[in-house]
Amino acid sequence: MKIMLIGYMGSGKSSVGKVLSELLDIPFKDLDHEIQHAEGKDISTIFLEKGEIYFRKVENSILKELLLSEAGFVLATGGGTPCYADSLEAMRSAENTKIVYLRVPLPILGDRLMVDKENRPLLAHLDSKEALVEFVGIHLFERSHFYNQAEMIIDVQEDTPQTIAKKIEQQLL
Ligand code: S3P
Repeated sequence: MKIMLIGYMGSGKSSVGKVLSELLDIPFKDLDHEIQHAEGKDISTIFLEKGEIYFRKVENSILKELLLSEAGFVLATGGGTPCYADSLEAMRSAENTKIVYLRVPLPILGDRLMVDKENRPLLAHLDSKEALVEFVGIHLFERSHFYNQAEMIIDVQEDTPQTIAKKIEQQLL
């Protein structure tokens, strides 16, 4: 099975994905890392040098390559992955996939992203907590339509990645 974790930046897709892949004994993949590897640059540099549209095209094409693989995996997507072009449709229509949305309340996202915004090209320019929370609130509202199309929605508060991964594992059975 290919498990696709979707959700906003800071929702814990990578940390939950790593634990879940161990529980299920299948490889873990991180779409941002795959993109960085293919481009030989980090995400911020790709945004800076080539722009967001270029990034979205690469993101879509690497996602589709991964979906073609025979073997199963747990994939942490990027926060924007299901929201552009036909990426969500590609995930839904590929064989043996399960799309899981990690839904995190805005105040928790605000706290997490405030300490970690410098490496995130879409957030780095926001210079106060209020500005960040306002931006994320609007962005999340726009993106929820895509995230809510997941086949499994997991509500995450302050739970550990272990607890969340176990919850997903149970719901997969
Ligand atoms: C993005 C999220 C990032 C990364 C890029 C764009 C987004 O991934 O793909 O900076 O549009 O939400 P994470 O969700 O892993 O931080």
